[in-house]
Amino acid sequence: MGLRNDFLWGGATAANQCEGGYDEDGRGLANVDVAPAGADRISVITGEMKMYDFDNQHFYPAKKAIDMYHHYKEDIALFGEMGFKTYRLSIAWSRIFPKGDEAEPNEAGLQFYEDLFKECHKYGIEPLVTITHFDCPMHLIEKYGAWRNRKLVGFYENLCNVIFRRYKGIVKYWLTFNEINMILHAPFMGAGLYFEAGENKEQTQYTAAHHELLASAIATKIAHEVDPNNKVGCMLAAGSTYPYTCNPNDVWKAAEANREAYFFIDVQSRGRYPAYALKALARKGITIPFMDGDAELLAAHTVDFISFSYYSSRCTSADPEMSGNTEGNIFASLKNPYLDASEWGWQIDPLGLRITMNELYDRYEKPLFIVENGLGAIDTPDENGYVADDYRIDYMRAHIQAMKDAVELDGVDLLGYTMWGPIDLVSAGTGEMKKRYGFIYVDRDNEGNGTLRRSKKKSFEWYKAVIASNGEILENL
Ligand code: BG6
Repeated sequence: MGLRNDFLWGGATAANQCEGGYDEDGRGLANVDVAPAGADRISVITGEMKMYDFDNQHFYPAKKAIDMYHHYKEDIALFGEMGFKTYRLSIAWSRIFPKGDEAEPNEAGLQFYEDLFKECHKYGIEPLVTITHFDCPMHLIEKYGAWRNRKLVGFYENLCNVIFRRYKGIVKYWLTFNEINMILHAPFMGAGLYFEAGENKEQTQYTAAHHELLASAIATKIAHEVDPNNKVGCMLAAGSTYPYTCNPNDVWKAAEANREAYFFIDVQSRGRYPAYALKALARKGITIPFMDGDAELLAAHTVDFISFSYYSSRCTSADPEMSGNTEGNIFASLKNPYLDASEWGWQIDPLGLRITMNELYDRYEKPLFIVENGLGAIDTPDENGYVADDYRIDYMRAHIQAMKDAVELDGVDLLGYTMWGPIDLVSAGTGEMKKRYGFIYVDRDNEGNGTLRRSKKKSFEWYKAVIASNGEILENL
C-alpha cells in the first residue's frame, strides 16, 4: 500500500520571503522586514543587534522579495500546472492588523488573502495556512516587548477570530506557529525578542514560549468552534539529533537535545508541560508564568496533527574538545562524517527523515505532515532561464523515498508533503536570493537586481510526474 489517495502534495512559502509589498494597502512594518541581508543578519535575527527600522547601510530583501504580492496569479497557475494539491503559505499579520493591537482589521489585507485562496481553489489547490511564520508587527515589539508580554496572546486571539471567520469554507488546514522551537535559536525572527543588556535571555525565551503555547491552544479552540472541519497543526523545526558515538554520555546529550525541541510539541500535542522540562527549567531557576486556567486550556485544546520541517539530522557530543561544527538550519551541529553536505554546509541525510518521522509518530501517535524539505543550491540558468537542476531532483527523490518507506514499511500516518520554496524566494537564514530551492527560477539576485521573470527548471516536470503518480514515479526524466 502506497501513500493515501488524498495525499496532499505541494509546496510551502512564507509571506515575508516572497510577497514584498511591505508597505502596500495599509500593511504595517514587522520584524521580518527589518532583517537585513549580509553579515549583520544573524545578530539581528538572534536578538543581539537592535534593528527596529530600516537604515541606509543595509539591504532589506523582504521589502520586495520576489514580489508575489503582484505575481500571485501567475505563480499559483504554475503550481496548478505541476498538479499541486495544496499550497502552504503564511498570512502576514501586519497586513491584517498593521499595528497588531487595533480593534478592527485592515480590509485590504483580508481581501488580498481571500483572493489568493480563491485563486488556489480554481486549480483544486487546498490552502494550508501558517498563521505566524516568524512575523510580528513592529508596533507590538516596540510597545509591548513582543511575546514576552502576555498581552500578545490576546492580540493573536483577535487575529485568529478574524481569519477563521473570514476564511471559513475556503481554508481548513492551519498551522499556529512556524518552527515554534526557533524561539530558542533566532528569538527576534522567531518571536520579536530583542534582549536588553543584563536580561536573563532564557527566562524571557521560555516566558515568551509559554505565551505562544497558550496562543496556539486558543487558536486551536477557536478554529474548532468556528468550523468543526478545521484541522490545526503545530510546526516543529525537526531533524533528530544523533549521538556522535555510542559513549553513553553522548547518547544522553543527544536525548537532551531532542527533548529541547520536542518540549514544544509535547505541550501542543499532549496538552501539558512534560516532567523533564519542569525539572530542567526549575534547575535553571526559570519560572513559567502560569496563571489560573492555563493548564486546563493547554490540556483541552491539543493539535490535530504534527507538522514539521526537515532539512537535515544533527549530531552532538559530550566531549568539550570536539570541534568541526557544520552549518545547519540556524542552529549548528557537529559534522557527521558519514554524510555529504549542501553548498551551505547543511548535511544531507534522507534516512534521517525516516528516523525523524518514526520518532515523532511513536511519540505522538497523531498524523504527521511534512511541511518543509528541500535543497538550497546555486542555480545557473541558461539564456531562457532554464536550469538543469539534477542535484535538486536527486535530493528530493531520496527524501521522498525515505518518506514513503516510513509510510509503507513503518506504518506512519502522513497527510502530505509540501517541499520548501517551490518558487525561488529569499532565504530566511541568510537573506540571500542565490540560495534557491525552487522548481521555478526567479530572475532576481542578492542585491535586488533582475526582471523578476519566472521560468521552469528541470525539476518542474519531474515533480509534476511525481504528483501525477502519487509518488510512484520518482526517477529523473
Ligand atoms: C525553515 C523556515 O527554517 O527553513 C523557512 O521555516 C526557511 O522560513 C527554511 O526559509 C530554509 O532556510 P533558509 O535559511 O535556507 O531559507
